[in-house]
Amino acid sequence: MIKLRNLIIGFLYRKCLKPVFFLFDPQSVHDLMIWAGKLLGSNPITRGLISLMFNYQNPMLTQKVAGVEFKNPIGLAAGFDKEAHIAPILPSVGFGFEEAGSITAKPFSGNPRPWMWRLPEHKALRVNYGLKSSGAPKIHKYLLGKKFNFALGISIAKTNSEATSHVESGIEDYFESYKIFQDIGDYFTINISCPNTCEASPIFAQAENLDLLLAKLFSIPKTKPVFVKLSPDLAKDQLDGILQVGAKHPLDGFICTNLTKINLLNHHGKGGFSGKAVEELSNQMISKVYKFYGGKKNIIGCGGVFSAEDAYKKIKLGASLIQLITGMIFQGPQLISEINQGLVELLKKDGYNNISEAVGRDSH
Ligand SMILES: Cc1cc2nc3c(=O)[nH]c(=O)nc-3n(C[C@H](O)[C@H](O)[C@H](O)COP(=O)(O)O)c2cc1C
Repeated sequence: MIKLRNLIIGFLYRKCLKPVFFLFDPQSVHDLMIWAGKLLGSNPITRGLISLMFNYQNPMLTQKVAGVEFKNPIGLAAGFDKEAHIAPILPSVGFGFEEAGSITAKPFSGNPRPWMWRLPEHKALRVNYGLKSSGAPKIHKYLLGKKFNFALGISIAKTNSEATSHVESGIEDYFESYKIFQDIGDYFTINISCPNTCEASPIFAQAENLDLLLAKLFSIPKTKPVFVKLSPDLAKDQLDGILQVGAKHPLDGFICTNLTKINLLNHHGKGGFSGKAVEELSNQMISKVYKFYGGKKNIIGCGGVFSAEDAYKKIKLGASLIQLITGMIFQGPQLISEINQGLVELLKKDGYNNISEAVGRDSH
């Protein structure tokens, strides 16, 4: 029944809605989606209707990661809903969690437009937002006191400006957002991997700088799990340095990965690539991080997930949770339910009773 429902909605999305959406520029469609999502999330009737159309739940998908309860392993990655405007509707769409942000301490209007390009032949997007944000105090004020029906991650990044492009000022900038969001959300992500800032390369991807940053963040009592989001383009010794630093601190895990800068054939220009352009790099990094810690730190796998098989691959390489954006834009919002239902079938086929049993099973 759920399978048929998803097939029909997926068909209608790909044959009717998507061709219309793809006639317009990606930013306008994205703004429309946030507006519609906010409206649909604003009352119980529309939330119930969306739930009938999209939701799928199964206890085999429920797990605790870093002490946080996740109803299923599929989350909306940072960047789609920067200020958690659509958080109330996302559980009805079937998401197990979302990551709001990235949020920066100071407001920034973003890089010069355009910010997004679709590359359908590569099942990818090129993105050049450059950490657009209303600033931590304003977003905190908006979210304060709001309760959501799933886990909410808060992704914080360094304000994209020359003033914070030094180690000391950069640490203070991260710390400002970190302090402001102590009382909101279920976990933090420290985004050290935005490829679209005014820096030649992200300064906190250098192990010694990350060490100083984490020392500062953990100098105050930890209120929730903390993850670090990695770039897929790190050289081997750079990644090793970061992982060694990670072992020194009470860090809960890593998100593998952000956008890649490695250019796709015929697509030059500013920005980083998502979707299938980053999938293989993301999978390789999941595998390396899982092996480095022997499964002792948690991994959120992100990059190019378009199906249950794609998600399961990341899980078996070592990811406990999955995030996505691009797959949903290309396949439709029923993708979340399709993936969750497909995961249950794959788990049963392999003889597992719960998703957590499959984590890291293909890591050797
Ligand atoms: C429009 C857009 C905006 C993004 N903004 C952010 C961001 O603010 N912070 C961040 O950590 N990642 C950001 N990302 C990267 C995604 O979170 C994710 O790592 C990447 O898109 C790979 O996943 P996907 O292939 O499922 O899209 C953004 C991606 C997209 C497509």
